[in-house]
Amino acid sequence: MSKPNIKNQELRDRAAKVMPLGVASNFRYWGPTANPVIVRGEGCYVWDADGNRYIDYRLGFGPVILGHGHPLVCERVAQAIRHGTSFAALTELEVRVAERITAMCPGVEMVRLANSGAEATMHALRVARAYTGREKIIKFEGQYHGMYDYMLWSTASSNPAALGSRRNPIKYQQSSGIPSAIRDLVLTLPFNDFELLETALKREGYQVAAIIVEPILGNSFSIGPKPGWLEFLRQKCDEYGIVLIFDEVKTGFRVAPGGAQQLFGVQADLACYAKAIANGFPLAAFGGKKEIMEVIGRGVSHGGTYCGNVVATAAADATLELLQDGQVLRAIEAQGRTLQAGIAEILSDSGIPHQIKGLGSMFGILLSDKEIWEFRDVRHHNAALYEAIAQELVARGVMPDPDAREPWFLSAAHDQEAITQTLDILAEAVQAVRTSGLIDTPAVVEDGK
Ligand SMILES: Cc1ncc(COP(=O)(O)O)c(C=O)c1O
Repeated sequence: MSKPNIKNQELRDRAAKVMPLGVASNFRYWGPTANPVIVRGEGCYVWDADGNRYIDYRLGFGPVILGHGHPLVCERVAQAIRHGTSFAALTELEVRVAERITAMCPGVEMVRLANSGAEATMHALRVARAYTGREKIIKFEGQYHGMYDYMLWSTASSNPAALGSRRNPIKYQQSSGIPSAIRDLVLTLPFNDFELLETALKREGYQVAAIIVEPILGNSFSIGPKPGWLEFLRQKCDEYGIVLIFDEVKTGFRVAPGGAQQLFGVQADLACYAKAIANGFPLAAFGGKKEIMEVIGRGVSHGGTYCGNVVATAAADATLELLQDGQVLRAIEAQGRTLQAGIAEILSDSGIPHQIKGLGSMFGILLSDKEIWEFRDVRHHNAALYEAIAQELVARGVMPDPDAREPWFLSAAHDQEAITQTLDILAEAVQAVRTSGLIDTPAVVEDGK
């Protein structure tokens, strides 16, 4: 099925002349004639420049928890900005948002606002280093914490087959331009592997300032923690005096009002938030134990011109007000489970091996029947088949990210009509792919050489 694609292409062509890859972020690049162009959103729908409508499961990579253009959030922002947007001074809005975060998130006693997830995790790492007087950081393969030098190692954009031996992982550098000195400050380990973490800590645990972890791998199919894994991280951090940082940029204010800390009942020392905190306005936060956060201002730097700016802070104030009692998130979770059940049925009926990871509100579809607990395992996923199905979905007006590592996100605006329509379209998309023969072609599994 072909949709009008004239104005979209004009915009892509103009963009390609003035922006590398024709996009403002590498993750938005689908190809010179495929980059998504969106001119408007409302609820769970977005429209491209040619007027084609899509049911949106990307939600701006996760933030839009209440739906696009949510009336209360927009109204509060509009009211607030009439009186100015940036003062480089404390505002009541900031205080209210900080109070909401500390009330909602377990163990977050003090908080600072920032503008992006990358900023939040970067500052949390600095605070952890300052607090412990140590320099090394442990991160896990397939996790993404932001586009900056310290964390662009063995992220979800790595080739799982290039990560070397599990016992001696290769740190996969995701970008040129990263100073080589940084390599020695980061340890990369497989997620959910108790034994390898224990070994690494025995070797150099007392040099480690922080373990930073996405409690659910929100950039790798939403793979979850094994039973006891997060508790194990907590216990080991206590044993070695390491700061445990939960990167809740994707899980925060989405999987529960208090994020993954509440969902799993494990408290980090510091936690980082962004995305759903402000329904798509650029606000982030990091916070945690008072004793640790109080190093800020006592020889430790944190700041930024737009930290706590009125636009995003007003959006966060309204968003958190709506999320606080958990009702909205419970409804999203239930809708997501309905959608998952429908997806599983369609894939099963078509004989496509699959498993659905994560929660109702953010989940990944892995086309494989192998047991999958970490990023290295995802090489069993049939990426070619998934991409073909995703392309057919987009062509018919349902827009998940074509990269299966990125979750399907749901918002409060994904109602029963949208779910039913999505499933009807998925059935058509799978049928269209069946005729291509891809369903019967096994996944290409690349092993390390
Ligand atoms: C878990 C996680 N941490 C950090 C970030 C970085 O956030 P931002 O893109 O706002 O810098 C992302 C972005 O997707 C993320 O998924």
